[in-house]
Amino acid sequence: TSKTVAVLPGDGIGPEVLDAALPVIDALGLPITLEHGDIGWEFWRTEGTPVPQRTWDLIGRSDAVLLGATTSKPGREALADLEPHLRERAPQYVSPIIQLRQRLDLFANLRPVESYLGGTPYRFCVVRENTEGLYAGLDWDRVPEEMWPLVADHPNARISGREATTASVRMLTRHGLDRILRFAFEHARAHGHPRVTLADKPNVLRQSSAYARERLEEIAADYPEIEYEILNVDAVALWMARRPERFGVIVAENMFGDILSDLGGGVMGGLGLAPSANIGENGNYFEPVHGSAPALAGTGRANPIAAFLTVGLLLEHLGFGEAAGQVRDAVSHVTRRRDRVTYDLGGSATTAECAASVLDACRAV
Ligand code: NAI
Ligand code: MG
Repeated sequence: TSKTVAVLPGDGIGPEVLDAALPVIDALGLPITLEHGDIGWEFWRTEGTPVPQRTWDLIGRSDAVLLGATTSKPGREALADLEPHLRERAPQYVSPIIQLRQRLDLFANLRPVESYLGGTPYRFCVVRENTEGLYAGLDWDRVPEEMWPLVADHPNARISGREATTASVRMLTRHGLDRILRFAFEHARAHGHPRVTLADKPNVLRQSSAYARERLEEIAADYPEIEYEILNVDAVALWMARRPERFGVIVAENMFGDILSDLGGGVMGGLGLAPSANIGENGNYFEPVHGSAPALAGTGRANPIAAFLTVGLLLEHLGFGEAAGQVRDAVSHVTRRRDRVTYDLGGSATTAECAASVLDACRAV
């Protein structure tokens, strides 16, 4: 059956990398209708919102959303270009991706990490919880009065006093834990990963980690064929760098997952390669991990591989698993050839040349 994908190119290199990668859908002959929509800084500037209502409507009637890149926080140049009457309103700009995540309740951030540059092959993913943990928004510049009795016994707090003590709370809920853990096991099952690793800190954050363990054990019982383990997050970081092939699905609360997922991007070879997805019960969006790279925009040198792999991830989500595999194979074919890749991977190809090579490889397989 035919699927509809909302394509939101956004700012900077976003439109360039999507233009380069999207032809892969036609090349593979997939029954997908693409509908382009507006998002980003330009729309905030001209219409007062980076996500116009027509874009929300488009998202609402689509099976998946593909994003290029957007301005999360306007840089100095974007601000300098701004009409004077907008300049004072600029601090009110809210990143469109944050709006998407919150409004669609996209609780799972998925970052596949795969060896595309040679060496020992590995393929794993980091699943980051997106709505709670240490980024739940429970963060105070001074410890609130009602909380002080809980904090005052700490020797450093006793010396500093309430006026010189800040705090952030790591909040884990049954609702939040259960849905992210279930997502991790479902993903492992669907992709044949033999193991789920919970990256946490049981030796230090004893109580909240014990609760996470309790939820993990209960949910794991529904997936008897999948092994699970709990490792300290710092150890996971070390093993990701040393032996990435040991992992299947790594799941973590918001802050630990934030750090591990960027480490994953580093392990696989940088921002030019890393794809991501944000997924919830009622929506999703797929985007390269990189941002709008304003200095690179218009130079024709942006690496389109992350965009290709993002399209691959989206195809997988829509049930076109075989096509997704073809995209990944085509990418591996190209990334091994120095003359076909862009500057960030040590090559000299342009965006268009690199994309043409991936498309050729796709048609060949
Ligand atoms: P960035 O990811 O845009 O760029 C960081 C560095 O990586 C730059 O040196 C850039 O040239 C390079 N780079 C990024 N993508 C590349 C590609 N495809 N090929 C080759 N080199 C690439 O991060 P930056 O500069 O911190 O942010 C720029 C803008 O993007 C800001 O407005 C920021 O808020 C936004 N941003 C948006 C994200 C998103 O849409 N999810 C994520 C990160 C940043
Ligand atoms: Mg990050």
